[in-house]
Order: sequence, then C-alpha cells, then structure tokens
Amino acid sequence: MEKISILIDEAVLSNRIDEIAAQINEKYAGKTVKLIGILKGSVFFITELAKRLHMDVLLDFMQVSSYGQELSTSGEVRIVKDLDESIEGHNVVIVEDIIDSGCTMNKLIPMLMERKPAEIELCTLLSKPSRRRVEVKMDYCGFEIEDKFVVGFGMDAAQKYRNLPYIGYIEQE
Ligand code: IMP
Ligand code: MG
Repeated sequence: MEKISILIDEAVLSNRIDEIAAQINEKYAGKTVKLIGILKGSVFFITELAKRLHMDVLLDFMQVSSYGQELSTSGEVRIVKDLDESIEGHNVVIVEDIIDSGCTMNKLIPMLMERKPAEIELCTLLSKPSRRRVEVKMDYCGFEIEDKFVVGFGMDAAQKYRNLPYIGYIEQE
C-alpha cells in the first residue's frame, strides 16, 4: 500500500475555488460561459467551480492523449474524445487539473482557437512551475506547487486515487 500525505485539504481547496469563481463571476457577469473540462482529471474541480458560478454556464468535455514525458514541444496533441458542440463565438474557459510541462495546453489552445471562439481562457487548479518546458498563459490558477506527483480531487496515479476529496502526494518509501 502506498502512503498518501495531504498536500491541500478540503477546506483550503473549497476556499480557493470560491476565490477563483468570484474572479470568473466578475469577468463574465451577464454573459454565457462555456466551461471545457479536460477529462478525466478536471472532473471534480469543474463541478465545484461550476456550482459557484452565477452567469449562464455551458459544459462540454474533451479528452486528449497524455504522452507524459514523451510529449515533445513539437508533437501534436491527440484528441481521444472531442467536444460534443461547436465553440464558435463562445466565451470558453478551459478547466484543467494541473499544468506540468505545459505541452498539452500549449498545443491544445491553438487547435481550439482555430474553431473561432470569442475568447479562450485557461483555468487550472494546480501548476508546477519548476516543470515547465513551454510557456502557458494561465488566466486562473488555484495553487502553485512544488515538483511532487499529486493525486486526488480528480487526479490519478495509474487511474487510482481520483476519488480522494483532498489533494495528496505519494510518500516515497
Ligand atoms: P503537461 O502540462 O502537458 O505536462 O501535462 C499536464 C497533464 O499531466 C495534466 O493534465 C495531468 O493529467 C498530468 N499530470 C501532470 N502532473 C501530474 C501529477 O502530479 N499528478 C497527476 N497527473 C499529473
Ligand atoms: Mg489532465
């Protein structure tokens, strides 16, 4: 059994999501926002965020292949599951669990821009700045964390631990 230590507990997560939601509520007051959740890691975050938004909110999801370490800065992102609907003319906010190397978002955002949304913003719960290989503009970021492999609140290690209500990290034996 791996030992999981808590990095960010439920109360701290909830308070920070309140703050991010307040920023989005202010920016998009009176408008419609389409949240795009990147499967599967963002699912817990996107539902908590969406419940705190007061404007009209649309939800759509996509899944992209994660090449992990091998995703080169020049490689393409493979779409495993595409969005169900068009984003043309929409105010899009991409919701991610974590920005690590930045390669996925660095490729995905230009691909989605070709679909002519009114705007695309990026909202990530976590960021590991020390791991960045390409620059990514984060419009909303919950927490900057050090270089630890984290799990819980949607995030997995070999598909396990997504259901943990907090963010933890696996203690090295
Ligand atoms: P990148 O920014 O392209 O390197 O990849 C980001 C993706 O890698 C995230 O959306 C996660 O799915 C995954 N990832 C990166 N770091 C972690 C971690 O510490 N725990 C779980 N998944 C991670
Ligand atoms: Mg992800």
